Amino acid sequence: MPKKSGLSKGFAVAFVVLTICAIAGMISMMVVYEIQTNGLNMTAPPIITTSTPPPPPVMRLPRSLIPESYDIILQPHLYTSIKEEVNVTTPNQTLTFTGNSTVHFQCHQDTTYIFLHSLGLNVFAPRVIDKDTGNPIKVSSVKHHKDVSHFLEINVDGRFKAGGNYSLFLAFEGEISEYLQALYVSTYTETNKEAVNETIEERFLAATNLEPTSARRLFPCFDEPDMKAAFRLKVIHRRETTALSNTRPSPDSYVLDKDWKLTSFFETPKMSTYLFAFTISQDNFPYIDFSTSSVNIKTYARPEAMEAGHVEYAAKITAKILEFYEEHFGLKYEMNDLDQIALPDLEPLAMENWGLITYQEGALLYEEGVSSWLHKELITSVIAHELAHQWFGNQVTMKWWNEIWLNEGFATYMSYLAVDHAEPSFQIKEKLIMDDLHTAFEEDALLTSHPLSTPSEYVQTPGEILGMFDAISYSKGAMVLRMLANYVGEESFNNGIREYLRVYQGRNVEQGDLWELIQNADSARFSIAHFMKSWTTQIGYPVITINTTSGETYQKHFLYNSSAVSSLLWEIPFEYTTNITLPGSNKLVINTPEHASVFYHNCKVKQHQQRSQRSYCCTSSICEESLDLF
Ligand SMILES: *[C@@H]1O[C@H](CO)[C@@H](O)[C@H](O)[C@H]1NC(C)=O
Ligand SMILES: *[C@@H]1O[C@H](CO)[C@@H](O)[C@H](O)[C@H]1NC(C)=O
Ligand SMILES: *[C@@H]1O[C@H](CO)[C@@H](O)[C@H](O)[C@H]1NC(C)=O
Ligand SMILES: *[C@@H]1O[C@H](CO)[C@@H](O)[C@H](O)[C@H]1NC(C)=O
Ligand SMILES: *[C@@H]1O[C@H](CO)[C@@H](O)[C@H](O)[C@H]1NC(C)=O
Ligand SMILES: *[C@@H]1O[C@H](CO)[C@@H](O)[C@H](O)[C@H]1NC(C)=O
Ligand SMILES: *[C@@H]1O[C@H](CO)[C@@H](O)[C@H](O)[C@H]1NC(C)=O
Ligand SMILES: *[C@@H]1O[C@H](CO)[C@@H](O)[C@H](O)[C@H]1NC(C)=O
Ligand SMILES: [Zn+2]
Repeated sequence: MPKKSGLSKGFAVAFVVLTICAIAGMISMMVVYEIQTNGLNMTAPPIITTSTPPPPPVMRLPRSLIPESYDIILQPHLYTSIKEEVNVTTPNQTLTFTGNSTVHFQCHQDTTYIFLHSLGLNVFAPRVIDKDTGNPIKVSSVKHHKDVSHFLEINVDGRFKAGGNYSLFLAFEGEISEYLQALYVSTYTETNKEAVNETIEERFLAATNLEPTSARRLFPCFDEPDMKAAFRLKVIHRRETTALSNTRPSPDSYVLDKDWKLTSFFETPKMSTYLFAFTISQDNFPYIDFSTSSVNIKTYARPEAMEAGHVEYAAKITAKILEFYEEHFGLKYEMNDLDQIALPDLEPLAMENWGLITYQEGALLYEEGVSSWLHKELITSVIAHELAHQWFGNQVTMKWWNEIWLNEGFATYMSYLAVDHAEPSFQIKEKLIMDDLHTAFEEDALLTSHPLSTPSEYVQTPGEILGMFDAISYSKGAMVLRMLANYVGEESFNNGIREYLRVYQGRNVEQGDLWELIQNADSARFSIAHFMKSWTTQIGYPVITINTTSGETYQKHFLYNSSAVSSLLWEIPFEYTTNITLPGSNKLVINTPEHASVFYHNCKVKQHQQRSQRSYCCTSSICEESLDLF
């Protein structure tokens, strides 16, 4: 999902920024030319305060049982419009849903209980089957843990044996939320032109929003991102409504009786629970079909928004961006269908559910001649972000929420490339400095910031997981990837991420998996894992000072609190241009970039490259070799 608001707040730190001719796209640092500076030398090592030690990871599901697939039937009892015979201001609205599900799982380690997630559901009628013999296994107890683990513990008389296949059936009922969580009700108004005098009528639709931990409020499930499974969904909904889900409806959809119909959906690819989604809206909720040669793309919105032509821009640009990604990633979009829907209410700006992307209306609807340029740019960026997730996040997913930046940083970074391709006149790459670089700088200059890859012990409860969806994961994540792409070169980087998508398709990753494949794609001049470590496993960023008289260069952890001390150091790729003569040449070179790679932190990486590139090895605070600038 995209961050809640992309606009950067006023950021007023008075720097005199000396861009030594061309810092050619390097994001990592601000080169500060401090004339009357007094804090050039590194201060004493800090005490890095790690807050109270985290609790042991008891919030995670055991790995003894691994889900393979789910069969789910859901029946939301909501009405989408007011019925004449019932009270007009309070329609006969029922905010309950009922359903049942069967999860098929394989046992990887002998055990006598099933742990899965369930929250706010009334669960009953458990049935466990040994699929290899077809025999039922007696359930001895069902227990809802009352803590934030949200565990549903099911004990059986008998034993799950490693290698065996089993299924668990549960019936359940829950409530449709009025607060935009899990399965929720969204309201809007519509002009009824058929009434004698036109009337404004209230309408309702049901939608889901499950990231990160709300799938457990919809059906009992193994609600962790690496517990990927295939989903087969059937929705029972009112006759006058249409249901959409991750995949397209299958032919065995039919009318049940005078009130209800059943829509059955094709099986999804194996995916994380948080990507599961469906919506139920009135039959008159229209769409525009703007497909590519291989993917049917439909963009849905309220009838009035559609009639006014507000959906056209989004529909057109989606196809263009999807084709760009397929080409750029060297990997086709996984499914044949992609639906997008503008919802009157949604808590994030948009959500990348696989095959059914949901948007706030403001993030999708565009009115030619009325909406601002900035609004158009927002729409394009949000669409590009969500489409990038169809690969980064949906195909290749982080193992755990502590590395959500692998989803969000990539989606944000890739959206710049896609928007630049689809709408070059936006010059979006220029804006990234304000939109993401400075947003990241702003958040990351606090001692309370967190590393991109936070140790998983600190990310256990739903609250801690939600806390990871911040400017660090989105903006710093994107900027650190941009730095790496610039450092290894776009070509190596792109080859690396193509391999990453190919190798880990349908699987879960940690950051090390990414570094390894970019390393392979690069001519391996240095260790990428080592280089990236200082950027992704510690908080903050450095400010670099260059004394242009002596050439002495320093780095220091940039913090708003100038009395705070820190000894954190970074490995910094560094490019500069001088007006001096190149060594071994008498020619005066003016404005010709002379690249130098300055490695801080320690001396492991010490190599001299071609003449125009030099490595400097800096120990703790001062470079041993000074830069011969000017
Ligand atoms: C509609 O329902 C509300 C709340 O139940 C009630 O206060 C109101 O009197 C009802 N109006 C009519 C016209 O029945
Ligand atoms: C309204 O609800 C009542 C009680 O739940 C039910 O008897 C009645 O049939 C409902 N009316 C409609 C139009 O569904
Ligand atoms: C599951 O729910 C559906 C729809 O309500 C129902 O028809 C079916 O009988 C239920 N399955 C079981 C095993 O109870
Ligand atoms: C369980 O299912 C998997 C694949 O679905 C299959 O490979 C395996 O042989 C099954 N185990 C048994 C004991 O039948
Ligand atoms: C329609 O509106 C007109 C003018 O406001 C009013 O006189 C008339 O009674 C209305 N008709 C109905 C059926 O509400
Ligand atoms: C920069 O280096 C020169 C020469 O070593 C020194 O005289 C000067 O004080 C330095 N400037 C600052 C601001 O430290
Ligand atoms: C700044 O850092 C110092 C030293 O760590 C600390 O004592 C002080 O409370 C901090 N000030 C603020 C405003 O956080
Ligand atoms: C390089 O630039 C500096 C600062 O503008 C100037 O003082 C110096 O003379 C220049 N050196 C050469 C070789 O042009
Ligand atoms: Zn996102």
